[in-house]
Amino acid sequence: MRIDKLLANMGYGSRKDVKILLKQGAVRVDEALVKDAKRHVDPSSEKVTVFGEVVEYRPYIYFMMNKPEGVISATEDQVETTVIELIDSEYAHYDLFPVGRLDKDTTGLLLITNDGAFNHALMSPRKHVDKVYIAEVDGEMTVEDIKTFANGVELEDGYTTKPARLEILSRSGRRSVIRLTLSEGKYHQVKRMVAAVGKHVERLERVQIGELELDETLELGAYRELTEEEVQLFLQS
Ligand code: URA
Repeated sequence: MRIDKLLANMGYGSRKDVKILLKQGAVRVDEALVKDAKRHVDPSSEKVTVFGEVVEYRPYIYFMMNKPEGVISATEDQVETTVIELIDSEYAHYDLFPVGRLDKDTTGLLLITNDGAFNHALMSPRKHVDKVYIAEVDGEMTVEDIKTFANGVELEDGYTTKPARLEILSRSGRRSVIRLTLSEGKYHQVKRMVAAVGKHVERLERVQIGELELDETLELGAYRELTEEEVQLFLQS
């Protein structure tokens, strides 16, 4: 990879800024001064320094966010605020994108990365990564609904969902709180499944993807990097 691209990717400014750094004599590769922006380097075997500081080359980055309401799961939008805009600009050079989507009014666990393989490991239907949701429902969810969801429920467009695990966490009057585990991710799936049994989702939060649970210490809109172990949960399976 070209040295100017590497340094720009690692957050040392634009290609133009990096050119200035190179001209200033700030950059060394294996201790040798490098001024040529076109010089190719292998960051895994050559030591690159800027003003003596070693450049830790990390091609990929992974975040978990507690997505707040009112922002959309996209990289850019003319009108709406996107989840990517909530990430500090120091990470802008990573070309981040959200892994899958949560609706604008859904909160909770959203993964954000620039690693296409990680995205694929989570999103490919063949990988069967379960997603767990907590929903507040207007209406009384019943034991009958548990059976219906376990057998697959027919949605309004004729699609029959894969078997899903429904737990009724609480019920009071017309309101129910449920936990729903899905092994697929159709558009508005939770809301449409609940609508198919005649009730309405009023609030929806995703709390788990595969083995990874939402970090309870994250405020709405906050995010943190995944640990190495958390990343491997998905890349190894
Ligand atoms: N199902 C929904 O209906 N909405 C979401 O955001 C996620 C799953």
